[in-house]
Amino acid sequence: METVLITGATSGIGRAFAGHYAARGCRLLLAGRDPEKLERLAAELKTECRLLAADLADEAQVRQLAETLREEPVGVFINNAGFGVAGPFWETDAEKETAMLKVNDLAMHLLFKSILRGMQARGRGTIVNVASSAGLLPGGPYMAAYYASKAYAASLTKAVARELREAGSPVYVCALCPGPVDTNFNRNADVSFSLKGITAEECVKACLAGMARKKTVIVPTARMRAAVFSRRILPEKAMLAVTGRQQKKKIRPK
Ligand SMILES: NC(=O)c1ccc[n+]([C@@H]2O[C@H](COP(=O)([O-])OP(=O)(O)OC[C@H]3O[C@@H](n4cnc5c(N)ncnc54)[C@H](OP(=O)(O)O)[C@@H]3O)[C@@H](O)[C@H]2O)c1
Repeated sequence: METVLITGATSGIGRAFAGHYAARGCRLLLAGRDPEKLERLAAELKTECRLLAADLADEAQVRQLAETLREEPVGVFINNAGFGVAGPFWETDAEKETAMLKVNDLAMHLLFKSILRGMQARGRGTIVNVASSAGLLPGGPYMAAYYASKAYAASLTKAVARELREAGSPVYVCALCPGPVDTNFNRNADVSFSLKGITAEECVKACLAGMARKKTVIVPTARMRAAVFSRRILPEKAMLAVTGRQQKKKIRPK
């Protein structure tokens, strides 16, 4: 039975991945910061689940989680937990933004490395780092640190994928880079989408299709693929202006 590890399993995209793999009879390792939410999720999923409560904004808890997972034969890792912070950079809350960087980048990085080492040793495995289309654009005015955090996730994944290919490794890693997805993301970032979002289940379906084709960067919708592609033809200044205009529209008036 395949063992699947999912961080941020309690909501949105992570939860949809949990539903998908539970329906296929996989054994799930579900990580989240709220033990009660994890219990409720496990009760809904008709498969064997191990619950791993950890606040990924706390580096000590991330390292402890990595240690706990050392003996687990993880076959698929959905490295998904994350959130956003919106507003002009000089106004956003530094503490919330630092927590975001710790979850979106530091925890993502440490868990990526430690799970990848296990997969390399076992000679098999798949890792999906959930980045964002935001990470493929030159920058995101009014959500500047979030875009930068996802650029880190996308860049790291692409480079590691290359290293694995050059080493002839059977381990496959990819970056899932969605545009808007209807989850709790907006509420937590205090924004409303200016573009219509897809469902978390649609996002997972598109990701699985990309994984079947062994794509390194998976952008779920044609609209976002076009937006990302325009980076190759539009000057960076124009891209930043367009992205900033879209982001500004999302910020809810206080
Ligand atoms: N929704 C979008 O439009 C969109 C687009 C591109 C990329 N993404 C990325 O997709 C990923 C999943 O987001 P989502 O859209 O599914 O949002 P979501 O519904 O808010 O889910 C985020 C998940 O991350 C967990 N999480 C947040 N902070 C955490 C922490 N400190 N420690 C442990 N877990 C934490 C949340 O746990 P709680 O349930 O405890 O809050 C939740 O399970 C994120 O990396 C996000 O950046 C989202």
